[in-house]
Amino acid sequence: MSVHSTEVAERVDALIARMSVAEKAGQLTQYFYFNLPPSDEPGAVFSGQPAMVETALAKGEVGSLLFVTDPAEVNRLQRLAVEGNRHGIGVLFGFDVVHGLRTILPVPIAMAASWDPGVIEQGQAVAAREARAAGIGWAFAPMVDIARDPRWGRVVEGAGEDPYLGAAVAAAQVRGFQGDSLGSPDRIMAGPKHFAGYGAALGGRDYDEVNLSDSELWNVYLPPFKAAVEAGAGNIMTAYMDLNGIPATGSHWLLAEVLRGTWGFDGFVVSDAQAVHNLRTHGFAADLTDAGARAVSAGVDMEMAVGDPAFAHLPQAIEAGLLDEEVLDASVRRVLTAKVRMGLLDQPYVDEERARTVLSDPAHRAVARTAAQRSAVLLRNEGDLLPLTSPGSIAVIGPLADSRRDILGPWVFDFDLDETVTVLDGIRNRAGDGAEVRYAPGIRPAHRTFPSMFDMFASNAPADPAGFDDDAELARAVTLAREADVALVVLGEWQNMIGEAASRSSLELPGGQLALLQAVVATGTPVVLLIMNGRPLDLRWAAENVPAILDIWYPGTQGGAAVADVLFGDVAPGGKLPFSWPRTVGQVPVIYSHTISHDPGNQGRRYWDEASTPLYPFGYGLSYGRFEYSDLTLDRDQIQAGQTVTVSVTVTNAGRRAGDEVAQLYLRQRYGSASRPSRELKGFQRVTLAAGESRTLRFPLGPGELRYWNAATRDWVIDTTTIDVFAGGDSTAELTTSFTVGC
Ligand code: NOJ
Repeated sequence: MSVHSTEVAERVDALIARMSVAEKAGQLTQYFYFNLPPSDEPGAVFSGQPAMVETALAKGEVGSLLFVTDPAEVNRLQRLAVEGNRHGIGVLFGFDVVHGLRTILPVPIAMAASWDPGVIEQGQAVAAREARAAGIGWAFAPMVDIARDPRWGRVVEGAGEDPYLGAAVAAAQVRGFQGDSLGSPDRIMAGPKHFAGYGAALGGRDYDEVNLSDSELWNVYLPPFKAAVEAGAGNIMTAYMDLNGIPATGSHWLLAEVLRGTWGFDGFVVSDAQAVHNLRTHGFAADLTDAGARAVSAGVDMEMAVGDPAFAHLPQAIEAGLLDEEVLDASVRRVLTAKVRMGLLDQPYVDEERARTVLSDPAHRAVARTAAQRSAVLLRNEGDLLPLTSPGSIAVIGPLADSRRDILGPWVFDFDLDETVTVLDGIRNRAGDGAEVRYAPGIRPAHRTFPSMFDMFASNAPADPAGFDDDAELARAVTLAREADVALVVLGEWQNMIGEAASRSSLELPGGQLALLQAVVATGTPVVLLIMNGRPLDLRWAAENVPAILDIWYPGTQGGAAVADVLFGDVAPGGKLPFSWPRTVGQVPVIYSHTISHDPGNQGRRYWDEASTPLYPFGYGLSYGRFEYSDLTLDRDQIQAGQTVTVSVTVTNAGRRAGDEVAQLYLRQRYGSASRPSRELKGFQRVTLAAGESRTLRFPLGPGELRYWNAATRDWVIDTTTIDVFAGGDSTAELTTSFTVGC
């Protein structure tokens, strides 16, 4: 332990020695703070809540607040906390800084599609700088849940289906948020979530139970969390649901044994919102006292509460002998250590003037634009329709093409719509006087059958345009398309259709979007389809009938500018899919890394009515270059367990334009003490190559890549076996070689 750590520990222990049990429980309590207008709506849990929170603050019984983003409010509430607490301990402000605060970056699944840890780290560093300037010290991010069922709306918040990519993205995000160490200037604490298994919700229904095998947990769902812990994450958030019958927020195995015991996590654990409280509704805890005691005993240090926290009952729990005060003290120690390390005890207030400057820093917008350029995935480009070559007239079609709110995606609250660049804005700016750009929405926005809980925030749900004549608008869009040299059609899901509590039973384009697309394609004008999404949608018709398809995700504040950069060829697309793109909802979950199982020759024909292969495979994406792989070699063809073999492969841009490629390396174990997936990603590198340029890339494969969790021995193993290596531009790569292990 360094001198610095000893000083921190002494300071924390001195505080704990002077605190009452009620004050300790207060430090472990986090409240939402929403200044929403009073409401009688059922479920309007937040109305009237500020007064209750301010009373608790004044009694020194609040450890943390969430959802306060205005620096002046941060200072006002902080003053209440510091003055109300006889030890002068300030509150730590936390928030869902998921993909930016004021400058909105592409949504996390888009950032993952960049396969570029550098740009991901830079993006979250921008988010951290803005948040810190506003007085927020802690992000409830990254979400590192593996998601294999796109019906689950939170697929947009993660890095997709794969543990190797997921781990790389998780670590990059933690580095971006925290910098070199917790408490670095301009950085904030990262809180990877939701521990663990949340992405595997039954039926893709958010919050439903999760049942995962031992092998899936260790080999697939836990690795991104481990990577985040190894990258130094200061916090972890629990998950809402039951994992294999035990609520994750009350799971001693998950929190005490795996997280702290096996991985040595030394930060603090926060519950998801109301999750401690809900240990009762799970049919797990008898009452709130029991819920609080069991959560703390399992390893939860802080309760995220809307109101009526279970942790307010911790003093009774101690009196009743349900909880040991030393266990409580250990939690308080972890929370206060984070506060001291974040500098909160020395500098609890924020500089409001500086916040204004930082939040409007143009350098942040530049990072967001690069991130959006690098996230775009080109799914189809028949006849090299893209990049656009000086069209004289462009029709931009679709309601999402000019929606400032939707291009930002879900999980943003502090955005500035005035500075948001829509696709239409971006195309107009880029085309300048060189092309006539005309716009028609064609159809009105689609709506959810059941409203989103986020619709309580202003401008969240799409507004129905007044006096919209459906037939006339569709006809106008078709006319515009017919008269143009190229039609850019922007379709997808409105942003309140994706994210938390946004599960779907279908993957179809909502509303009249497919009909609009078909009508535009029928004009004969070349069509570029731009997909705005956070999950795969049913694109079977488009994949056959639309010459160019670019997945732009929800690309953020600078989204429209970045999309124009890609469409006009100022930069080449180079993103790759972080999930297998299903043909239809009936196929899900469909993953590339399944085991071979029975009748492998027919694995693409498991259904009699539809191919069981994905529409686009994991790792897929085109560029303006055309890439070939050759010279796949190994520095040796035999290793012993524990040794490393280095794979080399040459990538050549055989196209006529510069382009970006993500070279990917997959392994298959031929035999061993368990059946292993037919392919597993074990290396990737994104490169930019000029036309005709070649580069030789190297990928080391050592114990980290070769070991796996064996469900029979319940331990990590490296089998004696032969391993096939595949290199290429997606998970169907064919160039192959092999080596043996331990023979
Ligand atoms: C619930 C969500 O599950 C979690 O991800 C989020 O951080 C909290 N609410 C706070 O908004």
